Amino acid sequence: MSVKDILGDRYDKIVDLAKRRGFFWPSYEIYGGVAGFYDLGPLGVMLKINVVNLWREYFVLKHQDLVAEIETPIIAPEVVLRASGHINHFTDPIIECLNCGRKYRADHLIEENIGLKVEGYGVEDLNKIVREKELKCPQCGGKLSDVRTFNLLFKTTIGPYSSDVGYLRPEAAQGMFSAFKRVFISMRERLPLGIAQIGRVARNEISPRQGMVRLREFTIMEVEFFHDPEGDDPPWDRFSGKLRLLPAELRQRGEEKPIEVDVVEAVREGLIKNKWLGYWMCVARDFIRELGVEYSDMHYEEKMPYERAHYSAQTFDQLVRVSRWGWVEVSGHAYRTDYDLRRHMEISGEDMKVFKPFKEPRVVEVEKVVVDKAVLGRALGSSLASFLEVLRNMDVEEVKKALATSEENIVISGFRVPRAAVKIVKEVEKLSGTKIIPHVAEPSFGAERLVLIVLDKAYSEEENRVVLKIPKKIAPVKAAVFPLLEREELVRVAKEIYSDLVSLRLTVLYDESGSIGRRYARADEIGIPYAVTVDFQTLSDDTVTIRDRDTKQQIRVSIKDLRKKLLELLDLELGAV
Ligand code: GLY
Repeated sequence: MSVKDILGDRYDKIVDLAKRRGFFWPSYEIYGGVAGFYDLGPLGVMLKINVVNLWREYFVLKHQDLVAEIETPIIAPEVVLRASGHINHFTDPIIECLNCGRKYRADHLIEENIGLKVEGYGVEDLNKIVREKELKCPQCGGKLSDVRTFNLLFKTTIGPYSSDVGYLRPEAAQGMFSAFKRVFISMRERLPLGIAQIGRVARNEISPRQGMVRLREFTIMEVEFFHDPEGDDPPWDRFSGKLRLLPAELRQRGEEKPIEVDVVEAVREGLIKNKWLGYWMCVARDFIRELGVEYSDMHYEEKMPYERAHYSAQTFDQLVRVSRWGWVEVSGHAYRTDYDLRRHMEISGEDMKVFKPFKEPRVVEVEKVVVDKAVLGRALGSSLASFLEVLRNMDVEEVKKALATSEENIVISGFRVPRAAVKIVKEVEKLSGTKIIPHVAEPSFGAERLVLIVLDKAYSEEENRVVLKIPKKIAPVKAAVFPLLEREELVRVAKEIYSDLVSLRLTVLYDESGSIGRRYARADEIGIPYAVTVDFQTLSDDTVTIRDRDTKQQIRVSIKDLRKKLLELLDLELGAV
């Protein structure tokens, strides 16, 4: 489905406004553009910064006792993405026209031609459908190839050696998994621990045709929330309440209407398999609400097992209804279990386990390896110390396996030693804790898509003029300052007010050209919540007007109270803009 199908004419109008006023446009336009790449213009960057900062407010600042933000490279060596499973699993099905050579995403081609939703189907099943339905190339009618998988990673080389393969990261997550132990230690070795990251990622989509909705390069905002699944409950007093959910089981039965459930109950009943997954879904609900989306215009859709990423035991997509035309995914919430840390542990050999203290110490019987050093010393000579080191790091079960023979000598990790010199004994011990691999719940957002959502929700027309009703907290420009006319005495005061508001760290537009009506219209079109006008009365009583973008009401305030009044209207604290 193209984005035009989703948003209808409204999308054309938003795109036109975005290009004209500098929110976004296709990249490299002078060379015809490249699908899946968009530039953000001056207003787009300012809006994105505000969206990103709002995300940071919800996911990091409101949780700074639990979450720390880091930054890791956008290029990853091959081994990282082999460990994560992306080299093998980060694929989409591709099909090629044997006549004209055009390539298509096979599941999209099927969906667009016969209306069957086949996302997540395997290559075999897709091939069967293409053959049974005798699908042809939509462009030239040519015969189609077999479906195969196409890896979505952008490949590069690191340094001058072509053997040092690297990839642009498809998610920020792997940088956080790789750095987990470092962050854990620097954050005083406590679970739960969230690691957040905001950064660029790239995915070599087969044929992105959804404008700003599906990009080949974008900014991701992710939290990997490391926790003990049997640990304490999330802070429900901060975020909880109702979630609108469309569980996989209902989707399976053809239901399209979400149910409304209390998050704590949904977790208790197993509808949401991990309590932190549910918690972050509540945070995401309220974050998206602040972007101007009503609760009734969003819900969570559980992905079917075959639609889920390879690392996920349960995934919910957060969908937002864009205008009256359809649902767009704005975030993904995956219960990644201990999959990633376990894989990195296996491939890197680094211990990713963390110590989990018991509430009360436990008395347990443990098996220990004991050795006769004198006998071993005679057998190993100067290698004794190395052997003891190997033994210390070895699992008791491994040693047991080596001992399960009647031979006089056994081989442990390459060392040949007398069997009688190594024994397993049982001892009673008081344990204060155990080691676990933390589990992970992950909320993940694309920032540019949210910019589009904000514009769509804010877009309105009044008397054939556009008014962008962007929530004032994220409006790229907070105030406009106008002299009523381009007269020296009015301009002087207006410029003083402009400088004063800039010194408050507000984003402010100064404009003196054209009629005041046109200037108000231009300010409305880019969503400036308040316009301050200096008029002739200002010269006699030091007052100015403040006009509200949404109500068009004007109030008069004295210049000395203007700062305070504007901050109050914008719900901002002095110094916290
Ligand atoms: N880390 C989430 C994703 O790759 O979509």
